[in-house]
Amino acid sequence: MRNIQSVRGMNDLLPDQTAVWHRVEAVLREVSEKYGYQEIRTPVVEKTALFTQSIGDQTDIVEKEMYTFVDAGEESLTLRPESTASTVRACIQHGLIHNRQIRLWYMGPMFRRERPQRGRYRQFHQFGVEALGWPGPDIDGEIIRIGERIWKELGIQGIILEINTLGSERSRTAYRQALTGFLTENTDSLDEVSLRRLHTNPLRILDSKNPQIQAILKDAPVLQDFMEANEQEHFESLCNSLAQSGISYRINPRLVRGLDYYSGTVFEWITDRLGAQSAVCAGGRYDKLITNRGGKDTPAVGFAMGLERLIELAMLQSEKVEAQPVHAYMIDLTDSSEVTIRIAEKLRDKGLNVIEHCGEGKLGNQLKKADQSGAALALIRGQDEAESGVIQLKHLRENKPHSNVPVEEVVEQCVKTLM
Ligand code: HAM
Repeated sequence: MRNIQSVRGMNDLLPDQTAVWHRVEAVLREVSEKYGYQEIRTPVVEKTALFTQSIGDQTDIVEKEMYTFVDAGEESLTLRPESTASTVRACIQHGLIHNRQIRLWYMGPMFRRERPQRGRYRQFHQFGVEALGWPGPDIDGEIIRIGERIWKELGIQGIILEINTLGSERSRTAYRQALTGFLTENTDSLDEVSLRRLHTNPLRILDSKNPQIQAILKDAPVLQDFMEANEQEHFESLCNSLAQSGISYRINPRLVRGLDYYSGTVFEWITDRLGAQSAVCAGGRYDKLITNRGGKDTPAVGFAMGLERLIELAMLQSEKVEAQPVHAYMIDLTDSSEVTIRIAEKLRDKGLNVIEHCGEGKLGNQLKKADQSGAALALIRGQDEAESGVIQLKHLRENKPHSNVPVEEVVEQCVKTLM
């Protein structure tokens, strides 16, 4: 029978990788709390319409990347490709934004059927924040500072912030018309993807990777020229506040984002250290999504970062994260392990990590296992120790003599030695 392997693009996280994941997740939690954000957990599966209507049915995610299936109740369901839509759904459903504002964060697996490569997977993890109810540029600045703090706390350098503003629906509609007019005059030079987008989502042509398209776009109308005064002011005020906080940024007028719900500020934190997948974190304003989903008119802004990309960067740049230490390894060679079990549980009560040897084995073999476990101390109870009412404490990492300690003093002695 052939071995069944994991699904392409969906990775196992093995024990030697989880230590760094724990550390990064702990930093993300702590930073969220420092800024007063609260955690929200939504289901991994949602009704398909939530994503098609929120993300947009002409986007790459909805057109070709969703894991969608019909369940036994004939309902079309989808594994979440992102969490903004679910967060908004939950906030409306539970009245979390009824006459109030809320700062939220989330972390968990997302699913997109993309072509897997370094930094791009079919099951990946995102950490994200969403701030619902604030219209001004101050909250845009706040979430960008959250990103900056995360890089700092993880010791990651060289991430560049690109920002842009997409303006309101009204200015975008006027711009879309002008851009479509310009591109229609140049259809001969457009590639297949751009031709298709010309009538569905012409703004996406702006972030085409094709150099020929980028050359044409040099003469294209610019969105900023269609923006209303208050939209310009919002953006300028954000830029000023970033400068005041000492955050460097690059304005990229071609930054449009691949999800339809954005309006106003959009941004991406990018790096050149992860091969083709340059975006570590991305987000922006989605002031109309909540009304479009049936909620009360509520401005909102957020971002999400890919944990696989973040962790790869953290591992490339900061010191190695040690796995959770094993403090003691219990070896009992007698017929009854009651005494050692009791000691092990007491040590755990004191906060120590203890492995008890399970199964048979000669002392030499058991000591080998103790050594492999990384434990600092082996606690040995053989026949002689049992008869004298002691436990032998053997140092596995330091060149110190072993000692025989009375059973009732072992816990205290271990705590003194190990903590
Ligand atoms: P997004 O740009 O689609 O935005 O994804 C955000 C981040 O998730 C990316 O910058 C990248 O780091 C990571 N990511 C996306 N796809 C993959 C993949 N296949 N493999 C590994 N990492 C990936 C959103 O998802 C929006 N919901 C962000 C947002 C929140 N906007 C407002 N609030």
